Amino acid sequence: MESIGVLITHPIYTYLEKELSKRFNLIYLSDLPSHHIINNNINSSIRAVVCDVKNGADTELIESLPKLEIVSTFSVGYDKIDLEKCKERNVRVTNTPDVLTDCVADTAVGLALAVFRKICVSDRYVRDGHWLKANFQLTNKFSGKAVGIVGLGRIGSAIAKRVAAFGCPISYHSRTEKSESGYKYYPNIIDLASNCEVLIVACALTKETYHIVNRQVIDALGPKGVIINIGRGPHIDQHELVLALTEGRLGGAGLDVFENEPDVPQELFGLENVVLSPHVGSDTVETCNAMADLVIANLEAHFLSKPLLTPVV
Ligand code: DGY
Repeated sequence: MESIGVLITHPIYTYLEKELSKRFNLIYLSDLPSHHIINNNINSSIRAVVCDVKNGADTELIESLPKLEIVSTFSVGYDKIDLEKCKERNVRVTNTPDVLTDCVADTAVGLALAVFRKICVSDRYVRDGHWLKANFQLTNKFSGKAVGIVGLGRIGSAIAKRVAAFGCPISYHSRTEKSESGYKYYPNIIDLASNCEVLIVACALTKETYHIVNRQVIDALGPKGVIINIGRGPHIDQHELVLALTEGRLGGAGLDVFENEPDVPQELFGLENVVLSPHVGSDTVETCNAMADLVIANLEAHFLSKPLLTPVV
């Protein structure tokens, strides 16, 4: 397989790149004159693209690679890949589900605990040389809070299991009811928000879920409610979220994703009820290595004409 050209759209993860380079002819997008150049020698040798959550494979890139057969993303989400173009060109697409479920679910719970118990504020307090004083603000309990989950797929279900251990009553909103889950189902997300204290967004980004958390949902959650987002930034109308947080119409937020990454609204920086993280839900050594192995296994399966392990299309 050493002669097969695999394009890396930008540096992704050292272990993945090292392992890929042992098996394939690894080409970096930055080494190409421009990915707008169609049919040059290099583009014609590329049969696979490896991308990730930050830089996907857009129409232009796919169209510029005449020999492209497969796009393998180092992420579970594939919203940055032009799936329609891939289908049209008969290009296969794979992602990395399951192996990252635990870590993303852990991140959601971690953010919730950090917001309710103001863990980052406490950390800064101690680093600034303080210790408990009478005026140190009390925090809020997370255990037992009513949790509403948006999207009860693999990650949403893993979050539910975890928060159940905190004694949290669980309800959810998703496209279809999953009666076997035993959790309360709300066909309408506003009803879910009105009946929970913590809203955790864990669904995939599609046309239907774009801005699924809008002003009405935020207001239904109210000044004591907390939003946790480990899905995608555009799930939430960020303008409305920032307004609600700065006006005190929402109790707090734990955000691992943002609408225009890497931009993070400056208005959030001064808010103690907000915890910010740079889209690192799955970023542990264990998970990233497992994701990398899955990317490679999918590519090897494809080029050996075996069934893909985790096909998207
Ligand atoms: C993914 O892999 O799509 C997630 O965004 C990880 O946090």
